[in-house]
Amino acid sequence: MPEVHVPVGGSMSPRSSDSDLEARASAALMKLTRYWPDDPLTFVTGHGSHLCTPEGEEYLDLFGGVATVSVGYGNPHLASAIAHQAGQLIHMSELYLNPVVVAAAERLGEIAPRGLTKCRFVNSGSEANELAANIVMRATGKTGLLALEHAYHGRTPIARSLTYQQGWRNAPPYVHNVQFVPNPYALRRPKGMGEPDFYRWCLDRTEAAIKHAHGGAKANFAGLWVEPIQGNGGVIMGPSRYYDELIKLVHAYGGLVVADEVQTGFGRTGLWFGCQHWSETPDIVVMAKGIAGGFPMGAVSTTPGIAAAMDDFLDFNTYGGNPLACAAMLATIEEIESLRDNIGACGAQLAEGLCGLVREFPVIAEVRGQGLMLGVEFDDDGTLDPNPKLMAKLHMRLRERHVLVGKGGPEGNIMRIKPPYCLTEQEADTFLVALRESLEQIN
Ligand SMILES: Cc1ncc(COP(=O)(O)O)c(C=O)c1O
Repeated sequence: MPEVHVPVGGSMSPRSSDSDLEARASAALMKLTRYWPDDPLTFVTGHGSHLCTPEGEEYLDLFGGVATVSVGYGNPHLASAIAHQAGQLIHMSELYLNPVVVAAAERLGEIAPRGLTKCRFVNSGSEANELAANIVMRATGKTGLLALEHAYHGRTPIARSLTYQQGWRNAPPYVHNVQFVPNPYALRRPKGMGEPDFYRWCLDRTEAAIKHAHGGAKANFAGLWVEPIQGNGGVIMGPSRYYDELIKLVHAYGGLVVADEVQTGFGRTGLWFGCQHWSETPDIVVMAKGIAGGFPMGAVSTTPGIAAAMDDFLDFNTYGGNPLACAAMLATIEEIESLRDNIGACGAQLAEGLCGLVREFPVIAEVRGQGLMLGVEFDDDGTLDPNPKLMAKLHMRLRERHVLVGKGGPEGNIMRIKPPYCLTEQEADTFLVALRESLEQIN
C-alpha cells in the first residue's frame, strides 16, 4: 500500500489569501447562489464544527455545509480513508467490479430501512431523485407523481418538477405528470381547524389527488415523494402517525412511496434514516449530502422486488459508485456510529435552549425539528406574518459573532440549524448565547 500523507488543517489553497478573490471569482465563475454576495466569506480549512478563513479566523458552522458535513470538517478518519483509497484506485467505471463498492452497498443494505437491501450509487441528491422517478415509473408502469407543498427535491428535470417552491421553479421545462398535495404544516393550517382535523384534511386532499389526477385515474398513479422533515421548505414535519397514514394511503392505490432522505438520512435525526421514526416503511429511500461526509455521492435504496424493475433498463453513470466515494461512505458510517449519542444529546440541548427563547421573544413563532435538524420560524410579534427581515438581520448579527446558520422557507423567515454531528455542548451553548444576544440587540 502506498504511504499517503494526509494534511489536516494546513492551508492547501494556492493564493488563498488574495484580497481580490471575490473579483477573480466573479470573472471566472458563473454567478452562484451565495449568502452575502457583496461581502462573501472565504474559507480554506475546517476542523470539527469550525470553518477557518485564510487569515485564521474561525466560524462556528451550525449549517454544516447545508446539512452535508455530517462527521465534521477535517475528520481524520474520513480524510485518511479517502487518501488510502486514492492510493489504491480512484476510478474504474460501473463496467467492472470492485470490493469497496460492493462492501459499501452491503453496509448500506444493513443500515437502510427494513427490506430496502438493494441500492444504486449516484453523485448527488438530484440524480438520486431522478433515478428514483425512473424506478417508480418502471416498477408501476404508470407516470402520475405526487409531491408535497414546500418540497425541494433538486435541480435536474424530474427532481425540479417535484420541487414546489416558486423560487426554485425557475428553470423550465417541467415534466407535466407531477402535482402537489398539502404538507403537514400545522402552524399554518386553515384558521379554526384543529390539528387532528388538519391532518385528516391533508390526507383527504392527497387521496383526492391520487384518485382524480392524471385523467381521473387511480389508473395512472405511480408514486408520492416525501421528505421526513422538509429541509429547504422550512424544517417542516408532521407527527409520525401522519406519515404512516400517508404510506398506507399510497399503498392502497397501488403506488410507491419515495422518502427523500437527502437531508434527514445518515443519522441527522438520531436514527440512520428519518423514516425509521415511522412504523410504516417507504418503498424507496433517496440519499446524498451527509452520506459520505461531504464527498460527492448519492444513493437510492429499495427492495429487491422493486429493484428488479430496472434489470433490463439500459442505464449508465460514469462516476456513480466510484470507489473513492464508497470508501468515504464506509468511513463516514463508522464515524456516525460513534457520534450517534452526541446527535441525541446536542439536539436535545439545542431544542431545549431554543424553546426557552420562545417564551422570551414573541417573534419566534415556532421551534421544530428532530435530532440535529432544527428550525426556528420568525413572525411579526405573534401575528404569524412571516418575518424575513428579522431573519436576515439575525443572519448578519450571527455572522458578526462568527456563527453561521441557514435560512429557508419560501419567505426566508426560518432559521435552519443542521450542524456537524460532532458539535460539542460548549459550542451549542456558544450558539444559543449568540442567538439570544442577537435577538436582544435587534428587538
Ligand atoms: C431533500 C433534498 N433533496 C434533494 C436535494 C438535491 O440534492 P443535490 O443538491 O445534491 O442535487 C436537496 C438539496 O438540498 C435536498 O435538500
